[in-house]
Amino acid sequence: NPVEFGITSDYGFLSPELPLEVLPDPYYAEWEMIIGNLQPLLLSKRLRSIVDQLPILSVSHLQTDAEWRRAYVILVFILHGYVWGGDSPTERVPPQLTVPLFEVCERLELPPVATYAGVCLWNYKPIFADEPATNLDNLACLQTFTGSLDEQWFYLVSVAIEARGAPSIPVMLRAIKAARTGNSQIVTECLQRLAETIDETNTLLQRMHENCDPYVFYNRIRPYLAGSKNMHDAGLPNGLLYDNGHNPEYRQYGGGSNAQSSLIQFFDIVLGVEHRPTGTSRNDSDKGSEDSTKPRNSFIHEMRSYMPGPHRRFLEQIDSVANIRSFVEARRGDSALCIAYDACLAMLRVLRDKHITIVSRYIILQSRSARRPSQSANPGPPAARNLATAAPTDKKKLRGTGGTALIPFLKQARDETGEPAIDAW
Ligand code: HEM
Ligand code: ALA
Repeated sequence: NPVEFGITSDYGFLSPELPLEVLPDPYYAEWEMIIGNLQPLLLSKRLRSIVDQLPILSVSHLQTDAEWRRAYVILVFILHGYVWGGDSPTERVPPQLTVPLFEVCERLELPPVATYAGVCLWNYKPIFADEPATNLDNLACLQTFTGSLDEQWFYLVSVAIEARGAPSIPVMLRAIKAARTGNSQIVTECLQRLAETIDETNTLLQRMHENCDPYVFYNRIRPYLAGSKNMHDAGLPNGLLYDNGHNPEYRQYGGGSNAQSSLIQFFDIVLGVEHRPTGTSRNDSDKGSEDSTKPRNSFIHEMRSYMPGPHRRFLEQIDSVANIRSFVEARRGDSALCIAYDACLAMLRVLRDKHITIVSRYIILQSRSARRPSQSANPGPPAARNLATAAPTDKKKLRGTGGTALIPFLKQARDETGEPAIDAW
C-alpha cells in the first residue's frame, strides 16, 4: 500500500500534498520570521544572535504531517545557516535548535541535518496553482540559503526529476507482479516505459546547466550544504555539538546529497543493480567479509538512513520482492524482454555519465579555479571554507558534501550499473 509509505503515483517521493509555505499556528511566528529573513540575517551576520535569543519552542503545536515536515525544513535551513553562515563555522548547536530539531527528526525518522527531503522533496511550490505542480516551468522553492536563482534551480531540477519519475513506481510494481505470474509481455512493456522515463529524467538533469552557474554553486551555495562528518579541514574536527541544555553531545552526519533520492535507488533496486563499498569489486564480495577493515555497506546503501522512514521502508520492501533481473536472466531467448531490460540499464548509465560530467564542471574545475590567486583574493565568506577548495597537492581530499571521494565513487556506481546487462540470444 503506497499510502503507508508516503508515496503517490503523481508525486512519487515528493510530499503527497503541496508543502506548507507557513506553519499555521502563530505560536511558531518567530521561526517563520527567521526563515523568512534568512538571507538578510546571513548577510548582516545576525542569524546566530537572533537564534540564541529565541525561546525553546515546543513541538506540541505541530499537528498534521505537513506541519511536521515544514518544521523540519525550517529547522534544517536555520541550522545550516547558523553553522556555516559566519566568518568561521560554529560547532555548537544551541538548545533553541537542538531540542525541537531532535523531536521533529525522531517523528520523521530523519537525522538532524539538512537532507534531500528537507531541501528538495518538501521545499517547493507551484508558481501557478492551476498548472501541474511539478513541471520545471511551474516550480519555485520555498526556502534557499542564498536567495539566488541558481540555488532554486539546483533544487528544482531534482524536484522535477522526482515528479517525472513518479509514474514509474506503479509501473514497476506491476512489472514485479507480472514477473511472478510469468507474464513476459507485461514485464517487457513496463520495462520499456521505465527506460523512457529514465531517459526523460536524463533530459531534465541536463537542464542543470541552464540556470545554475558552476561558480555560484561551488562558492556560494555548496558551503551551506556541508555536513559534519570528516569535516576536520573545514573547522569541525569533532562534528557538531548538539546542546540540548543539559547534556551536549558531539555527532557527525553527512551533508545533503542526491544520493539520498529514493527514486534513483528505486531504479537500481527494481533493476537488480547492486552497489558495493567504494574500492571493492564483485570478487571481493564473493570472498565474503573476511576483510573487516572494509565497510560492508555501500555509501549509497548508507544514504537510506538519510531518507524519511516510510521511504526507507519502501525501498527495503522492494528489495525483498525485486525479481525482474532473475526473470530476465531466465529468459535469454526472449529478445524483446532482454532489449527492454538492457535499455533501462543503458539509460541509467547515461544518467550517471551525465552526472559525472556535472560533477567535473561544478566541483572539480571550480576547486581548481578557486585556488587561482585572482579568485581566492575575494572568495566570499563561505567559499573560504569550501571543503573542496582544498587542493589535492596540499593533501586535503576533495570530497562531496555527502562525504564520498567524488569521481572514484561515482565512476564505480556507474560501472556497477552496467554489470547485470544481459545479452539477448
Ligand atoms: C551523488 C554532485 C545534481 C543524483 C553525488 C555526489 C556528488 C554529487 C559530489 C557524490 C556524493 C557526495 O559525496 O555528495 C552533484 C552536483 C550536482 C548534482 C554538483 C549539480 C550541480 C544531481 C541531480 C541528481 C543527482 C540533479 C538527480 C538525478 C545523484 C545520485 C547520487 C549523487 C543518484 C548517488 C550516486 C549514484 O547513485 O550514482 N552528486 N550532484 N545529482 N547524485 Fe549528484
Ligand atoms: N553532493 C553535492 C556536492 O558534493 C551537492 O556538491
